[in-house]
Amino acid sequence: MKKDIGVIPAVYPMPVLMVAAYDENEKVNVMNVAWGQICGGDKIILFIGEGKKTWLNIKESKAFTVALADVDHVDVADFFGIASGNDMEDKFERTGYHAVKSDKVNAPIIDEFPLAMECELLEFLKTDHVQGVVGRIVNVKANEEVLDENGKVVPAKLKTFAYDEFQKGYNIVGEPFAKAWNAGADLMKK
Ligand SMILES: Cc1cc2nc3c(=O)[nH]c(=O)nc-3n(C[C@H](O)[C@H](O)[C@H](O)COP(=O)(O)O)c2cc1C
Repeated sequence: MKKDIGVIPAVYPMPVLMVAAYDENEKVNVMNVAWGQICGGDKIILFIGEGKKTWLNIKESKAFTVALADVDHVDVADFFGIASGNDMEDKFERTGYHAVKSDKVNAPIIDEFPLAMECELLEFLKTDHVQGVVGRIVNVKANEEVLDENGKVVPAKLKTFAYDEFQKGYNIVGEPFAKAWNAGADLMKK
């Protein structure tokens, strides 16, 4: 029997996105975003609280990158979600991580994470219920090691992980077990 468990954002898994943007002096800042999703073939929406350093930086620079965090870098990924560039002058520098400027958009790419989407700001979305940053993905850069022979990303090689809002955990994402757009095909024939 099902139990009522209250009002909770019961979506699992959630992504662990590393959103990086420059301030007006090209100083790098990165934040952890779990409330974010693809909202079109070349668009992404990030639900970032207004006034966060990343929000301010994106407003200024009109661009950002979104990396997928991987298990080898979970400590820094989590740190990017605890500390704010508004209060901590050396938030990025103290991690010892490295950033290079994207050749596609005015935003930094963090070396340590295996894949990054390079995005230009499309709009800030603000309604009575939702605050978001919408970006156009103009390119994706991925480490060669996470690609197959056809140049496609192999999720298992990314070693990325998911955010679990129920238990406030980071969880390893599983292996492939069925083909999408195909596992239900037999029912189409009935
Ligand atoms: C797992 C995790 C997920 C988070 N997801 C979001 C999110 O989706 N949106 C948001 O505004 N803040 C989110 N946060 C909080 C921000 O990362 C946090 O406020 C951070 O300090 C903002 O950094 P900044 O001010 O340097 O931009 C998350 C934090 C953690 C640990």
